Amino acid sequence: MRKRKILSLLLAATLTMSVVLTGCGNSSREAADNASADTGSAVTEEAAPETGETAVPETTEAAEAATATAGFEEGATIGISLPWLGTQNWKEAETMFKEQLEAAGFKALIQAADQKVPQQQQQIESMIENGAKVIVVGPVDGSQLGAVLEQAKDAGIYVIGYDRLLENTTGVDGVVQFGSVKTGELQGQALLDGLAELKGEGPYNIELFGGGPADPNAPNFFTGAMSVLQPKIDDGTLNVVSGQMDFTQCATLDWDNAKAQSRMDSLLSGFYSDQEIDGVLSPNDGIARAIITSCENAGQEIPVVSGLDAENESVEWVWSGRQYSTVAKPTDALVGKTVEIVKSLQAGEGMPATDVITNNGKIDVAIYELPPVVVTKGNAKEAFANDPDRLALLK
Ligand code: BGC
Repeated sequence: MRKRKILSLLLAATLTMSVVLTGCGNSSREAADNASADTGSAVTEEAAPETGETAVPETTEAAEAATATAGFEEGATIGISLPWLGTQNWKEAETMFKEQLEAAGFKALIQAADQKVPQQQQQIESMIENGAKVIVVGPVDGSQLGAVLEQAKDAGIYVIGYDRLLENTTGVDGVVQFGSVKTGELQGQALLDGLAELKGEGPYNIELFGGGPADPNAPNFFTGAMSVLQPKIDDGTLNVVSGQMDFTQCATLDWDNAKAQSRMDSLLSGFYSDQEIDGVLSPNDGIARAIITSCENAGQEIPVVSGLDAENESVEWVWSGRQYSTVAKPTDALVGKTVEIVKSLQAGEGMPATDVITNNGKIDVAIYELPPVVVTKGNAKEAFANDPDRLALLK
């Protein structure tokens, strides 16, 4: 994990330039140094080697500036471009953006792109044409929206990445997300903890799954998990029986649960006809349930499986012991943080200060980061203490 404490001259110059280019003032003020030390210091965003990018984004603790801008009219249109509605978090985002933006007096223009890059490009173009003042984007593919986002910036529109990084573009003002490497670390650690708790003494037979390769979060989740698991593979505690350990071998195209299930079916028939599988790293809850279902169909005892999103069905499975863990990244908090930034922009107060900066391959981007929380049966009541809907599932 790399953490740079020194704000380099280059970074300072880049920030100053972007301030000038976006028409912001230069009234810099220091960000509170350790305001989010827990999350900020725990997270390092890495470039995905398999995407073939040459630039390696680095997370930097930096004194980013809150800057004054012109603002825009109350009641303005805010565009929300989501990648798909295939997992619960994105469906929640659709509902919660509508509720929270309308409550703040804005007009919400919300569209989802069904995992298709050209569809998302067109939807963003139409948000520009419809006079959106801010466009919030959860990209289908982090690196394929460069041109349309730069077009939005040229039209004086603010662009905020939501949940996923916007890569290889100058057309982004900041990104609101949960720590993605940190999320992976929690998943890897939960897998280890579950194996120790439920599967006796090692060594343990495991397999690894990653998310959709176009999603910049997916390689980061995997990197974070492998930072915890690799030492245990190296010392023989964990045995990846298939030998499939590269992200590219483990990724699940489009986060498609059915594809994950058929890969798990093949792994089980190819490598586990005469031995047990003890654990599986899963990047989210839908894929976790697909993996567990595959194991049940193959007559295996259920392995320890990680997850992500605290989807309702998986919260029930965690509570009943069918899925070992999930990671909660509450959508209402992420939407709330985004709407807070939109209000700041509307009021002419510019992008808020932040202490995390990530290079997106083209520019240094301000990251507004929230902490993900691992959930197992052991801490579920506590983790969902403020979430009555999920709490009600624990019965
Ligand atoms: C999100 C996850 C989600 C996945 C698939 C990721 O970018 O962070 O919450 O499960 O996309 O939709």
